[in-house]
Amino acid sequence: MEVRAEFKKFHDVEADALVVTIYEGEKAEEGALRDLDERSGGLLRELIGSDEMRGKQGEMVYVHKPGDIRARRLLLVGGGKREDSSLDGVRKVTGSAARFLRGKGARSMAMLRRSQLDIGSSAQAAVEGALIGLFEPDRYKTEDKEERRITELILVAASPGSENELARGVERGRIIGDAINLARELSNEPASTLTPTELAERARETAARFGLDIDVLDEARMKDLGMGALLGVARGSDEPAKLIVLRYTPEGAEPMGTGGEVIAIVGKGITFDSGGISIKPSEGMEKMKYDMSGAAATLAVMRAIAQLKPSVNVIGLMPTSENMPSGRAYKPGDVLRAMNGTTIEVINTDAEGRLVLADAMTYAKKLGATRMIDLATLTGSVSVALGAVNVAILGNDQVFVDELRGAAREVGERFWQLPMDDEYRELIKSDIADIKNSAGRYAGTITAAWFLREFAGDVKWAHLDIAGTAWENERKSYMSKGPTGVAIRTVINYVCNHTGKR
Ligand code: BES
Ligand code: MN
Ligand code: ZN
Repeated sequence: MEVRAEFKKFHDVEADALVVTIYEGEKAEEGALRDLDERSGGLLRELIGSDEMRGKQGEMVYVHKPGDIRARRLLLVGGGKREDSSLDGVRKVTGSAARFLRGKGARSMAMLRRSQLDIGSSAQAAVEGALIGLFEPDRYKTEDKEERRITELILVAASPGSENELARGVERGRIIGDAINLARELSNEPASTLTPTELAERARETAARFGLDIDVLDEARMKDLGMGALLGVARGSDEPAKLIVLRYTPEGAEPMGTGGEVIAIVGKGITFDSGGISIKPSEGMEKMKYDMSGAAATLAVMRAIAQLKPSVNVIGLMPTSENMPSGRAYKPGDVLRAMNGTTIEVINTDAEGRLVLADAMTYAKKLGATRMIDLATLTGSVSVALGAVNVAILGNDQVFVDELRGAAREVGERFWQLPMDDEYRELIKSDIADIKNSAGRYAGTITAAWFLREFAGDVKWAHLDIAGTAWENERKSYMSKGPTGVAIRTVINYVCNHTGKR
């Protein structure tokens, strides 16, 4: 999709459709709408205030031959209350409009800028919204495949002088939207296609294309490093595990390990979670191909960072394996020794995510991480607690957690903190080893986080449990159903705007 800005009158813009947001309570006689009303022969006066267009979010009216404007169609979309308008609103309105217009066969759409939000940020949000909105998880369809394409998005702004700001916003939006869709594409891939080896291959392609350093550790190297937790999980699978390590070094930065900040992003990369010997029920098991969504998010974040170039060192770690039952699989009752020496009693082989993350976190510290964010589809319990609405965030440093919550709020993502009282730590004590990998169902998200915390040590660490939010079961007007790419925008925002400016 080509995106460009035009500083023209809205009626001079050449496009298949012109999209205009109508806010609640607006009058057709006021401001920008007045011109449109006159050019369309009083159309707005008739529509606004009618039941068809009250400006409520989600409302749309599609008009053919809209009168004296160059665009061939007019799409009015409800924007909600103007005082509530937000970047997330811009994102959703643009996404909904793009999906709607694609369905009508439009190839180009022009968006009239009407929000009073910062011009660069709202351009960014609009581009993100369109890219996210137009993604379809239909790679494997041969029928009913969405073949229609919107190839042109034109942002129409009346205020010349802000060209640079707008162009930068468009560029940021494209980078972030494309990164999110890369993650969604990966999460959607069947597990027999996207094996750990294939995930490493895709990471190599991304690294080569965007100029990131990459190192892929195979099982032999992991064994030398003593990664008994990650290798324990991998044992049941015929597919060899990998630990993928990406590195972004800013220009002119102090080398890693010489005192500067090094942010590590660690993503759970279980390409298929059958549960192992503690096997899962077959109903819904097909969805466990998305148990690598944390790793996909990590790759997406690293790709965007390589393009946005913040002035901070960032490493991305993707511990990736299948979790399978077999004659060689690890078993309940086994004791594993993690890279940092901690011994772990395996209670449930289905609590595998924390095991692969444990060794990746230790390795991240070895590489010099001073701050860590892990992303993982870690527990079913997070859906019990927060449904599909909020990402659970937990951590060992309140300031860091608050910074991430703030970063989430700014990009319209919802994070909710769960508590880490010491009493929960008791629940992962083992009778025969240092800790155990499962403490049962109660407070499952919190005990899983306590497990990870053992491996963060004194590094500032935050954990994002995205098991409930990485997959959307319902189609939205602004987005297809399936993988969501959740938390990617937040982590990019945090890295680029909250630690070390560009
Ligand atoms: N990958 C699952 C968590 C999950 C469940 C993700 C549903 C997405 C949707 C994870 O590996 C798992 O199986 N967790 C167990 C932990 C338990 C055995 C302590 C769970 O949540 O049931
Ligand atoms: Mn599991
Ligand atoms: Zn899992």
